[in-house]
Amino acid sequence: MTGDTSAPVGGPAPSDRIDSTRPHSARVWDFWLGGKDNYEVDRELGRQIQQANPHVVAMVRTDRTFMRRSVAFLAAEHGIDQFLDIGTGLPTDPNVHQVAQSVHPHARVVYVDNDPVVLAHARALLDSNPAGATAYLDADLREPGRILAQAAETLDLKRPVAISLMSLMHFVNDFGDARAIITRLLDAVPSGSWLAFTHATAELGGPEVAEAFRMWNENAVQKARPRDRDEVAKLIDGLELVEPGIVSPPFWRPDPADGEQPREVPLWAGVARKP
Ligand SMILES: C[S@@+](CC[C@H](N)C(=O)[O-])C[C@H]1O[C@@H](n2cnc3c(N)ncnc32)[C@H](O)[C@@H]1O
Repeated sequence: MTGDTSAPVGGPAPSDRIDSTRPHSARVWDFWLGGKDNYEVDRELGRQIQQANPHVVAMVRTDRTFMRRSVAFLAAEHGIDQFLDIGTGLPTDPNVHQVAQSVHPHARVVYVDNDPVVLAHARALLDSNPAGATAYLDADLREPGRILAQAAETLDLKRPVAISLMSLMHFVNDFGDARAIITRLLDAVPSGSWLAFTHATAELGGPEVAEAFRMWNENAVQKARPRDRDEVAKLIDGLELVEPGIVSPPFWRPDPADGEQPREVPLWAGVARKP
């Protein structure tokens, strides 16, 4: 993967981040997860989408359990002790650092989000094991150069890092911009680093999923661009996917402890290594 821009990808980051009169992804996601850090506009859209697609709550839960399994896999089976989690969302136990530090108490985790409500609750992400460290960056994914420069204050970018982009890249609607961001992030870390991701799709979950995306894009601040499996594979081209490749999250190395039915949800998920 190549690419080297320190300028924002796709132009300056739009100033869409402080509009609390319209639904934002972090807060609607929090509503679906049963959290309390959301506004009535978020709950209203969340309920409407749930009516159109009753499986949306299962989707957000499987996204979180995939995060837990993929972080535990990278920490326990590949010795990864540094994580850069972009598009973190509102704190939801367990967070990345709790999973990573349960394997490596000295693990270091940098969280990034551009939603001021996430910033307001970021304290819950900073309760690191004293042997390790966590940091929170209020930053936009579309400024990967800035994220990397600030993450380097906590992470050693000369050693392998796992970058997690959970339910995030569909908010970068232009394929070229999304690819450029992933390239820029992976170029900054050494061979043996990893990317773990989930990505929205309308290929899975039936016809009600397209309606749910239509409702989302009509109302929410951050427009979502679902992608099919082939497009997601192209986004991460050049990385080596571990088995079982790109699958719906419940099918990625399922763990009976999650108590999940192996049922498709409208997300693609995968874990890939930088060669
Ligand atoms: C659907 S939520 C996913 C939260 C969490 N990663 C998870 O999977 O549970 C997407 C998150 O990405 C954040 N986000 C969206 N666009 C972003 C951007 N351009 N830069 C940084 N964060 C962004 C949102 O604020 C939100 O917290």
